[in-house]
Amino acid sequence: MTTIRKDERKAGLFWAQIEEGKKRPATKNQAKGKTVYGERVITEKKQEFRIWDPYRSKLSAALIRGLEAYGFEPDSTVLYLGASSGTTASHVSDLLDLEGMIYCIEFAPRVMRDLVQVCATRQNMIPLLADARYPETYNFVPELVDVLYQDVAQPNQAKILIQNAKRFLRPGGTAYVAIKARSIDVAAKPKRIFQREEKTLTQSGFTIVDRITLEPFTADHVFISAIYGENL
Ligand SMILES: C[S@@+](CC[C@H](N)C(=O)[O-])C[C@H]1O[C@@H](n2cnc3c(N)ncnc32)[C@H](O)[C@@H]1O
Repeated sequence: MTTIRKDERKAGLFWAQIEEGKKRPATKNQAKGKTVYGERVITEKKQEFRIWDPYRSKLSAALIRGLEAYGFEPDSTVLYLGASSGTTASHVSDLLDLEGMIYCIEFAPRVMRDLVQVCATRQNMIPLLADARYPETYNFVPELVDVLYQDVAQPNQAKILIQNAKRFLRPGGTAYVAIKARSIDVAAKPKRIFQREEKTLTQSGFTIVDRITLEPFTADHVFISAIYGENL
């Protein structure tokens, strides 16, 4: 039988014991009766919990691998770059309550159609068809955000993060970036690439807090957590 336990240190997060010795992150479903990517749902005391698949979401994988820097509070505002069809973003929406908000940037119209459907069932999730390389095109995001999340699998990931942080991330806010070595440079050694991207972030006012590899869930990625503004 699967049991659900609240994480006392991370707001909105639960852990599901899915089998002996095997735990998975879980979130309380904000859109009762709906799933997003065929994820497993456990109902306990009339509450639905969505099991957060680490093979489908790098944030879930990072939580399992021991992510310490946790920037989400129930009323946080989040800017999410590369939301795709909303797999991870929907779990982030669950972490927040109705005081919080997640702005989801995605530039591919095909996945945007699915993302719009997901957002339609949730009150704290807004889809924006835009290119994360041009933050000036979504300047109407109305506030400085508490968390900037980036998973765009593009070259220049650090640069894209910095451009968005300058416009939208509050000082002391948390940034997460999933860096894929091969999307940046197919020829260079992954370790070199990760070091180079981290250096770029540090030089732009980020303090790196966590650096997590995501094996066995995702290959070739490093998941970086950083606090903004402490080196400025
Ligand atoms: C690896 S997928 C993201 C998966 C998603 N974060 C999740 O876990 O559910 C990368 C996404 O970023 C989008 N993307 C790539 N470059 C982008 C850009 N410059 N602006 C906006 N979206 C971008 C792609 O279209 C794709 O949907």
